[in-house]
Amino acid sequence: MTTSNNLNDKTICITGASSGIGQAIAQHLGSSGAHVFMMGRNRSPMDESADLIRSAGGSADVATFDVADLEALSSWVASAAASTGRLDVMVNNAGFGDVGATIADGDPAMWKAMLETNVLALAVGCQAAIKAMRSTSSQGNIINISSVAALQRESGVYGATKHAVNCINSSLRKELQDEPIRVTSVMPGVFATNFTRNVDRTMVEGIAGMAGITELEFDDDSRLPQHQIDQIQQALAIGIGDVTHIANAVEYIILQPSELNIEEIVIRPQKSLLS
Ligand SMILES: NC(=O)c1ccc[n+]([C@@H]2O[C@H](COP(=O)([O-])OP(=O)(O)OC[C@H]3O[C@@H](n4cnc5c(N)ncnc54)[C@H](OP(=O)(O)O)[C@@H]3O)[C@@H](O)[C@H]2O)c1
Repeated sequence: MTTSNNLNDKTICITGASSGIGQAIAQHLGSSGAHVFMMGRNRSPMDESADLIRSAGGSADVATFDVADLEALSSWVASAAASTGRLDVMVNNAGFGDVGATIADGDPAMWKAMLETNVLALAVGCQAAIKAMRSTSSQGNIINISSVAALQRESGVYGATKHAVNCINSSLRKELQDEPIRVTSVMPGVFATNFTRNVDRTMVEGIAGMAGITELEFDDDSRLPQHQIDQIQQALAIGIGDVTHIANAVEYIILQPSELNIEEIVIRPQKSLLS
C-alpha cells in the first residue's frame, strides 16, 4: 500500500493557522495543491494566506473560533470532511507557552488555558480527525505539533503540556496501527513566530537587541509585525529557525509511503539558543 506522492486535492485541516508555524504549514501545503482548512482566532492573517494559496492554484477555507470550544472544533473537522468527502491530514498546531515562567510564581489561569489549548483541544482534534478519516475511508495523517520542551524534564507547565502531547501521540500511534492512519509528533526547537507573545518582554527585547532591533512594534496582543519577526530570524538564523523548514518537514511526513510512519521529528536550528 502506498500513498500518492503529491498533495493535489488532499483535504488538510490546520489549527492555529493565523500565525507562525501553522500559517507557514497552511501556506506551503495549500500552495502545493492541497485544499486547506485553516482556523484561528485572528481572521485577517488567514484571509491573506487564503488569497496567496488561491493565487497559487490551491483552495483554502477560513474559520474563526477558539480551539478550546471543543464542539466547534469537532464540527469544523467534520464539516471539512463532509464538504470534500475526505480528510487526509489533521495538523493539531494551535498552542502557546509561557517559557521562562516559574511554577512557584506562575499563574494558574495561564496553566488552565495551556492545558485546554495544548492538550485537551489537541486530543479532541485527534478524535475528530479519526472519526472523519474513518467515515470517509480516508488514508490519513495526524500531525501533532509538540516541542523540544517535551524532551526536557525541567520545562515547567508548558513542558508538561508537550510531554502530554507526546504521550497522546505515542498512544494513538499504537491504537491506530491496524488502520490506515499515521500519527506524528513534530518537536520544534526555537523558531521565529509570535510564540513570544506570552514570553517575558525583557527576554524578547534582549533577543531583538542581538539582531540590532532597538524598538519592537508590539500590537495590543503582544504580536510582532512579520517584517520584525523576519528581521530577527534572518539576523540570528543559526539559533532561530525559519518556519518554512517546519512546513517542508510536514510535507515530507505526509508524502512518505503509507506503510511508513514517521513517529517523531525533532527539528531545530543548528545552535540551541534557548533550548
Ligand atoms: N515557535 C517556537 O519556537 C515553537 C517551538 C516549539 C513548539 N512550538 C509550538 O508550535 C505551535 C505554534 O506556535 P507558534 O510558534 O507558531 O506561535 P504563534 O505564532 O503564536 O501561533 C500560534 C497559533 O495558535 C493559535 N492559537 C493559540 N491559542 C489558540 C486558541 N485558544 N484558539 C485558536 N487558536 C489558537 C494562534 O491563533 P491566534 O493568533 O489567532 O490567536 C496562532 O495561529 C504551538 O503549539 C507551540 O507550542 C513553537
